[in-house]
Amino acid sequence: IKPSTILAIESSCDETSAAVIKDGKVLSNVIANQQVHEAYGGVVPELASRAHQKNIVPVITQALEMAKVSKKDLNAVAFTRGPGLLGALLVGTSFAKSLALGLGIPLVEVNHMQAHVLAHFIDTPKPKFPFLCLTVSGGHTQIVLVRNYLEMEVIGETLDDAVGEAFDKTAKLLGLPYPGGPIIDRYAQEGNPLAFPFPEVNMPKLNYSFSGIKTNILYFLRDKVKEDAQFIEKNMADICASIQYTLIRILLHKVKKAAKETGIKEIAIAGGVSANAGLRQALTDLAVKQQWQVYIPAFEYCTDNAAMIAIAGYYKYQQGEFTNQKVSAMPRMKF
Ligand code: KG4
Ligand code: ZN
Repeated sequence: IKPSTILAIESSCDETSAAVIKDGKVLSNVIANQQVHEAYGGVVPELASRAHQKNIVPVITQALEMAKVSKKDLNAVAFTRGPGLLGALLVGTSFAKSLALGLGIPLVEVNHMQAHVLAHFIDTPKPKFPFLCLTVSGGHTQIVLVRNYLEMEVIGETLDDAVGEAFDKTAKLLGLPYPGGPIIDRYAQEGNPLAFPFPEVNMPKLNYSFSGIKTNILYFLRDKVKEDAQFIEKNMADICASIQYTLIRILLHKVKKAAKETGIKEIAIAGGVSANAGLRQALTDLAVKQQWQVYIPAFEYCTDNAAMIAIAGYYKYQQGEFTNQKVSAMPRMKF
């Protein structure tokens, strides 16, 4: 194992983040959230790029300071190449390229979705290969078969909206601010998940679909509000609990199927939606029944962060998987 100190940069969506990892151990992980999007009910790409531009130098400076590492100690720069918003990715990508060029050190490109999976190797307990990872975020919903650190395959995914999008868009219908996922989560804890049954949309194989359920909820709310203008305010907790219950049931249904088909009993969750308390509890309960070993990341490593880019960069660095200065951001990057 080569000794290494790596700076990692994440800028794929609305978090500007930098982390330092030394010999596989994360020394710092600084995240600047962007509040500008709240009023718009979703991430505004142009505003995200501008905020990254403003935040990137302070965030990197702070990450280096917290780790007590100076630029000349760095052995490589890792960065998120994709998937994500082009303008947002460009800020991190261009910065990483310039820094690596200036310091004369290697550049390591990281796939954001692989990094969500590898967040499980920042801390213990670490999953054992092969394992299944349900990666659920604002942009993706995937079941990933993870054979090794850098060997993974998407065996199921959403054919339309991501589950995080379903959370955020239904929150918007309820008049809640962006991002609505954590707010629905909070209301759901006080509500009855069986108050309003929503149908489960079943897709072929290990795939998902979340656009239909969003439409169901839209019509449901429209009809109820016609009868009682105060329906949403009066029933917020029960509505949130019922929506969340339905989304979780859909998610875990296919995880169960994937575990059965592959015979794998090591099950992990990752991505922003894995911060959801209901999902974490439901997975833990299911694990007892199914005799799975489940892995749930610490909250700080669920949503977007550079520590996960750092750990992915670390494994790539060990393999000598470097990229060159011709690299450009890739919004639709696949595994
Ligand atoms: O991984 P992430 O930070 O960014 C992307 O790569 O998309 O995920 C953000 C998504 C948003 O849709 C947000 O609403 C959702 O994760 N999220 C949650 C919770 N915390 C974040 N969804 C449900 N419950 C939560 N507690
Ligand atoms: Zn993400």
